[in-house]
Amino acid sequence: MPEAPIVVEQLSKRFRIYHQRSETLKQALVDRRRSRYEEFWAVRDAQFEVAEGETFGIIGANGSGKSTLLKCIAGILVPDRGRVSVRGRLASLLEVGAGFHPDYSGRENIFLNGAILGLPRRYINSVLEEIISFAELEQFIDNPVRNYSSGMYTRLGFSIAIHMDPDVLLIDEVLAVGDEAFQRRCMDHIDGMRQEGRTLVFVSHAAETVRNLCDRCLWLEHGRERMLGPTGEVVDGYLEDVNLREMAALSSSGQVATGPGWMGVRITSVTVIGGEGHEGLTGTGEPLRVVIGYEAPSGLRRARFRVSFHPAEGPELASVQTDDREMDERPLPAQGEVALTIPELPFLDGVYGTKVEIEDIASGRAYVTLDRPQSFRVHGPGRREQGVALVGHQWVLPALDPSAVSA
Ligand SMILES: Nc1ncnc2c1ncn2[C@@H]1O[C@H](COP(=O)(O)OP(=O)(O)O)[C@@H](O)[C@H]1O
Ligand SMILES: [Mg+2]
Repeated sequence: MPEAPIVVEQLSKRFRIYHQRSETLKQALVDRRRSRYEEFWAVRDAQFEVAEGETFGIIGANGSGKSTLLKCIAGILVPDRGRVSVRGRLASLLEVGAGFHPDYSGRENIFLNGAILGLPRRYINSVLEEIISFAELEQFIDNPVRNYSSGMYTRLGFSIAIHMDPDVLLIDEVLAVGDEAFQRRCMDHIDGMRQEGRTLVFVSHAAETVRNLCDRCLWLEHGRERMLGPTGEVVDGYLEDVNLREMAALSSSGQVATGPGWMGVRITSVTVIGGEGHEGLTGTGEPLRVVIGYEAPSGLRRARFRVSFHPAEGPELASVQTDDREMDERPLPAQGEVALTIPELPFLDGVYGTKVEIEDIASGRAYVTLDRPQSFRVHGPGRREQGVALVGHQWVLPALDPSAVSA
């Protein structure tokens, strides 16, 4: 049986980080005794094979070693340990603008790239127009590429890579640079290449893209394999982990109670409870309860309670407040709890933070504010919805044409 198109065995790659140059003579003398660099492993013991016709994903946080591993497969970096072998013609799209000569025109760079891949000139001539039109660069193809925007670089790089008849195609995150319409065309093209049985390795920190595209997936963490297997399982594990981290970041950055604010009013606790009574956990379309404990030495008259929700990063999504008229007629005791219930939370999968404010209705002045005191995790209904909110929707399709349905 022939070897798989990509075989990676016990591959490790080390980098050196050089210390800053000594700025003074004294420092230089001190530094002479220490090493001027440190070594660290950007990739450690990577081991996998990619089968013919397989689309293989590599995911992981920034700096986890994805690009380094891909460059080792591409032969741009030499591993310090282990081995990698690639069978067949390899094309890669690793960094925006990598592999281009800035002073040459787009057209000249196409020929240059083809020559590097060992393709005959007549083959390149036969795909030249296709490359240019796929990249939408008809007007600019004879300008030097140093004048290209990053989007133009990406389009040209991608178009060259896919038209060079590769058996193995490596794609790093670069696709994210292009506009959406181009990205979609790329995805369609990649799908076509999969169907032709070409082998693809796709690197991204965008888990959903990997989910849609890849058969199997490797999750890297600090250069090491954290998980390797069917894409669905690996991506689920990865997202769960990302969420846990976000949640930890949110909880530790927020306070659980405030000191006394104006008039000595304090928020003593905020608890977020999901549909099944779990603290900090609910599902899309399920209830959410926020219970606010407060203390107000002289009671609270005409107070307004407000709760706002934020994603882990980003602007406010929703903000709700008590009814002013009701609160006007309803003085609150010096100590108590005010609870907000949302019967059907519309937020999609993710981690959200809350902000709680108590203010005086008449003046609008804040008694006290507690920003992001409690985060909570929402499990989404499925993978078809994206964004932050569940939007009720329906689709209408054309009437079924029986003759178009093949047996
Ligand atoms: N040429 C290099 N020299 C030194 N360190 C590097 C070099 N390239 C990458 N690194 C470091 O190696 C680690 C992995 O980087 P990289 O493979 O680019 O991660 P990713 O693509 O997952 O974001 C990072 O800490 C990065 O700073
Ligand atoms: Mg990278």
